[in-house]
Amino acid sequence: MSKSIPHGGKLVNRIDLQIEDDYSLNYVELDSLEISDLELIANGSYSPLEGFMEREDYESVVQDMRLSNHLPWSLPITLSVDKKKAEELQVGETINLVYENTIYGLMEIKDIYSPDKNLEALKVYQTTDDLHPGVKKLMERPEVYLGGPITLTKRIEKQQFANYYLDPVQTRKHFEDKGWKTVVGFQTRNPVHRAHEYIQKTALEIVDGLFLNPLVGETKSDDIPGEIRMESYQVLLDNYYPKDRVFLSVFSAAMRYAGPREAIFHALVRKNFGCTHFIVGRDHAGVGNYYGTYDSQKIFSHFNEAELGIKPLFFEHSFYCRKCENMASDKTCPHHEIHRVILSGTKVRGMLRNGEQPPKEFSRPEVIDILIQGMKKDNYEGVGYGK
Ligand code: ADX
Repeated sequence: MSKSIPHGGKLVNRIDLQIEDDYSLNYVELDSLEISDLELIANGSYSPLEGFMEREDYESVVQDMRLSNHLPWSLPITLSVDKKKAEELQVGETINLVYENTIYGLMEIKDIYSPDKNLEALKVYQTTDDLHPGVKKLMERPEVYLGGPITLTKRIEKQQFANYYLDPVQTRKHFEDKGWKTVVGFQTRNPVHRAHEYIQKTALEIVDGLFLNPLVGETKSDDIPGEIRMESYQVLLDNYYPKDRVFLSVFSAAMRYAGPREAIFHALVRKNFGCTHFIVGRDHAGVGNYYGTYDSQKIFSHFNEAELGIKPLFFEHSFYCRKCENMASDKTCPHHEIHRVILSGTKVRGMLRNGEQPPKEFSRPEVIDILIQGMKKDNYEGVGYGK
């Protein structure tokens, strides 16, 4: 497979920065998840979506992982308001989309509907347990959804690492300029440790370029803050990756922790960014014990490769084996687990808190230094792979 075609055939562009604010319109306030979705719809990351989902698409996605036109799509992308606000609004009306007292866009309301959140939780997250961070967030959101096409009228100011926020047209151009015909996308919400590095580089052996695309939207509080992770990616790329084979930019969506369903979503978005391949390792987008280790791989068998339009590359749980003197997985290493460097999240968290370096077989020392510094500075609790 080479040359990635956007999902649905063309890259959506719903950005019009010429439109002036119209304060006579009614407005809806977005939360941090919705504002990031607004921009990602508008810049084509979520192609073919042109707005927040109307009921027909929403129900079809929840039930069947397909839009109403049958295209694969695994996560609802919705805008929620409370009942009181919904009563003020009418189908056919255009509203302002507001975040922190600023108008960022417009939406033409095509649908106002009440979702069945229990069903959404069960289908999308496979649980209604509100200890699950995605379910918790879903249940906290107001009870009415608004659907309809959006237009982004103002770009969202990026506080940190502004140069790393690129639209799909820009990442596609970069891949083309580099002459990469095949590009593998890598999603992460964590620092890149040796296991990640191993599966990235293994994938890179068979494609032209690696697109390191960490998610920096809203994450749960014990995941490592984006700015510390960005520092760790930079130091890693500078020291251990060939510059002309890797491209780093961020994915500004919120993390849903929807495991298998989110793996499909992550793959489709990376296709829109121009990737031809996508890495899915163990417990992709998982949290706690809600999903089986390889469920996020198994879900890809619901679709055929042509309709997804991006080739998933599956990797088994990887680790360093002291007997092999190499990174490996069960597929390639015959040795007993006592020879394998596998550290639990809790263990590494403890080590970092005490300023101790986990072994270099687990994580590059340069990355660990940044995590220890960051931990001192920000007093965060996460280590970023203890699920
Ligand atoms: S995720 O929530 O963004 O998926 P994470 O940053 O932990 O979390 O993982 C990034 C990618 O690396 C995912 O595809 C995940 O499955 C994979 N991965 C993480 N750790 C390992 C490992 N030890 N072995 C194999 N794959 C892994």
